[in-house]
Amino acid sequence: MPTSPPDPALFQAISQALPELPEWQAFKQAALAARICTDRTRILDAAGLRVDVSAQRHSDALSKTGAALLHARHFHTMRARLLQGQMVNFTEGRAAWHTALRASAPVAEIATERQRMEEFIRKADTERRWRNIVHVGIGGSDWGVRLMVSAFGYAGSWRRVRFVANIDGHAIAGGLAGLDPRDTLIVLASKSFTTVETLENGHRAREWLQAAGVDPTGQMVAITANPEAACAWGIAPAQVFCLWDWVGGRYSLWSSLSLTAALAVNTDVVAGMLAGATTMDQHFAQTPLQHNAPVQMALSAVVNRSVLGYGSLNIAPYDFRLTYLVPYLQQLDMESLGKSVTLSGKPVGVPTGAPVWGMPGTDAQHTFFQWLHQGDGAPVDFIVCQGSDHTWRKHHALLLANCLAQREALLHGKPHAQVVQKDLRAGQSPAQAEALALHQQCEGGRPSTLIVLPRLTPYALGALLALYEHKIFVQALIWGINPFDQWGVEYGKSLAKGILREISGKESDIAASHDASTRYWIAQYQMDA
Ligand code: F6P
Repeated sequence: MPTSPPDPALFQAISQALPELPEWQAFKQAALAARICTDRTRILDAAGLRVDVSAQRHSDALSKTGAALLHARHFHTMRARLLQGQMVNFTEGRAAWHTALRASAPVAEIATERQRMEEFIRKADTERRWRNIVHVGIGGSDWGVRLMVSAFGYAGSWRRVRFVANIDGHAIAGGLAGLDPRDTLIVLASKSFTTVETLENGHRAREWLQAAGVDPTGQMVAITANPEAACAWGIAPAQVFCLWDWVGGRYSLWSSLSLTAALAVNTDVVAGMLAGATTMDQHFAQTPLQHNAPVQMALSAVVNRSVLGYGSLNIAPYDFRLTYLVPYLQQLDMESLGKSVTLSGKPVGVPTGAPVWGMPGTDAQHTFFQWLHQGDGAPVDFIVCQGSDHTWRKHHALLLANCLAQREALLHGKPHAQVVQKDLRAGQSPAQAEALALHQQCEGGRPSTLIVLPRLTPYALGALLALYEHKIFVQALIWGINPFDQWGVEYGKSLAKGILREISGKESDIAASHDASTRYWIAQYQMDA
């Protein structure tokens, strides 16, 4: 994957600290002066999705200064670098060419791997093999596949899928419990093939097969960018499906990583998601800024986070099949945007990636919407399907009504005077009504985006995930950070290796460099070891 760094002038422009840019100062002032316009709609059509940003701050000045800010960050050049597979991950000297994985006419090496996966699945389906699939992977090697299976396999299929991610022994124990080893395929998904959780869980799964007298060679596959390590570990070369180091782990769903989902549901699901995602890529590549959904979502996110100071982003999928969309987007967003220095290592100078959290509505209404209405609050991305895939019309009407109502309540709030009148009509005395209203009023003016899928199809979900990938890329470009590395997660892993040695060792092995509490607990665990 030949690729070269950008020229120094470009690198300087994309890595300058944001507050030093006059374009940022103009954008910031325009954002502070802008308001949410409730008398008109701003709905963007993108790859079959309808992205309604009406409940985000908007003005002509904000549009103009947003375009100028993107120009200052060489948006068009950087977008081209991303989509053409040039280096955009500068600390690792790599491209981030996940869009190539879903191209309708992929490059040869991608096409070959896709054909290998499809042939493996075709053979397994023809032979009606693997009643059970145990998918062993974590993070980007787990969330996307869980999402696909829960979105499209929620009604069950003849194959059962278990997901094992955590190193907690209960996870692998539960993952294997009750399955027939002779009819179980173990999928080891790990881009690096060095992740401790995945390899340890893989060892237990292999031991489980062997204990049942099953030769693991034919019942274990690996999906990795490190085929040498997978073969050295004991996976047969023909059972190793490859991805590449220029695909970030949290961007790898589009590769053979989707094998488990294709087995659990069908290969049409994979094809549909690839098609939807590549259509969103084309929207991102070709649509003018004002109508470009990822761009507009990114600009609103930067306004909410870095100008208005909102402390997080809530994801509210009003569809229980999208339960795993939240952790998927948590990793995609927070592992990409959870950075505090620019590409040149200088402090960004404004708040960057916010915590992303949430759960499906309407459950969320009974869990934390109180905080969204009357606490500090957070911008909300509402995601809903216009059509349902069940027959109970009233259920879907109630779901849609709740989604729109919550969004309207966040936007309009409940003014004090309105609440007083309600309480007076309810028979409260003026004094009681005044006092009670202080507790019942809602501030309103709280921003949200509404993303409407026609229905939950693989195409629509693929488009949705690509929408967020590109939104995150644009946010990172504006902030001047690298969305494609994740150095922060390495530190904890290296500390864990040292503490593991100490926990398994003797009191004398405990390093004096630990804080007192860590030393205490290592000693406590040593006693049980
Ligand atoms: O959390 C760190 C991380 O490297 C993620 O970026 C990645 O998705 C996950 O661990 C699993 O890594 P691998 O696929 O290499 O096992």
